Amino acid sequence: MRILRPTRSALARAAACLRDGGLVALPTETVYGLGARADDPRAVARIYAAKGRPRFNPLIAHVPDTAAARRIATFDARAELLARAFWPGPLTLVLPARGAGTCAAARAGLDSVGVRVPAHRIARALLARVGVPIAAPSANPSGKLSPTRALDVARALGPRVDLVLDGGPCPVGVESTIVDLTGPRARLLRPGGVPVEAIAAAIGDLAAADGTIKAPGMLASHYAPRARLRLDARRPEPGEAYLGFGGLPADSAGLDLSPGGDLAEAARNLFGHLRALDRAGAARIAVAPIPSRGLGLAIRDRLARAAAPRD
Ligand code: TXA
Ligand code: MG
Repeated sequence: MRILRPTRSALARAAACLRDGGLVALPTETVYGLGARADDPRAVARIYAAKGRPRFNPLIAHVPDTAAARRIATFDARAELLARAFWPGPLTLVLPARGAGTCAAARAGLDSVGVRVPAHRIARALLARVGVPIAAPSANPSGKLSPTRALDVARALGPRVDLVLDGGPCPVGVESTIVDLTGPRARLLRPGGVPVEAIAAAIGDLAAADGTIKAPGMLASHYAPRARLRLDARRPEPGEAYLGFGGLPADSAGLDLSPGGDLAEAARNLFGHLRALDRAGAARIAVAPIPSRGLGLAIRDRLARAAAPRD
């Protein structure tokens, strides 16, 4: 595994590696992705193996623009509207799959495909160079905290990745919002980097994901730090570290997601702060109440999953 600064020659090398069926970790605006060509079952198998990811959990296909997205998915009027409004950006659309751009393994056998056009400059440059859709889940071992820096990927996946492109810290910090458009009613499968309010303003209210596991990444226990989490806590109890929002209580030991109470800053810091508290050896973390508007919904979702009981 090598970490490369995203120079022109590094991009060329990463593109060649991907074309040859290799695994490249790449920065996106949300989190780092673990990329492989989406049309190659062997390359895709390496993603599942590297992450220890269950085979029934489909991967998102990343493409450089909407024209490329239309080659692997069937767009309806809602999809066109959302693509125009939010791509490139942190939105994934689940649409009927078409063509040979994504293999069945990348879709976990489904006849739908999750498609995303990332906004990150380096991701876009790489996707344009490779010329085939790139399947990329978050570049973390399945069930662990998502990586927002190249170093997080290197530490967590090490030699299982061929190359890591270092694009610095991810500017959004939580994964993409996933909207399922395969049914008559648009459904929110995962809150993320595009606020649901903005999506609803474009296409009307979204149905909530029902109990059936349509996005298995949303299995209850996910994004788990080592420490136990207690949510919506106004202050820490003895023995707890504190993950604050909008100021730390006097005498508490911990980190603040956003001293000024800014949800975008909190999203950017979320995984890094959880990781830092873990590394500092916190056994229990109390987390401040986070409002559920805007990016707060995605933050609350990740925290709830991190706090869920594990087996
Ligand atoms: O921001 C992101 O979306 C990041 C970056 C790297 O792009 N990727 C990401 O991938 O978060 P991952 O694999 O960690 O989460 C993708 C989620 C999973 O929960 C998966 O089940 C769901 O997307 N998904 C993918 N294809 C789907 C499909 N056809 N139907 C339903 N859910 C799908
Ligand atoms: Mg993930």
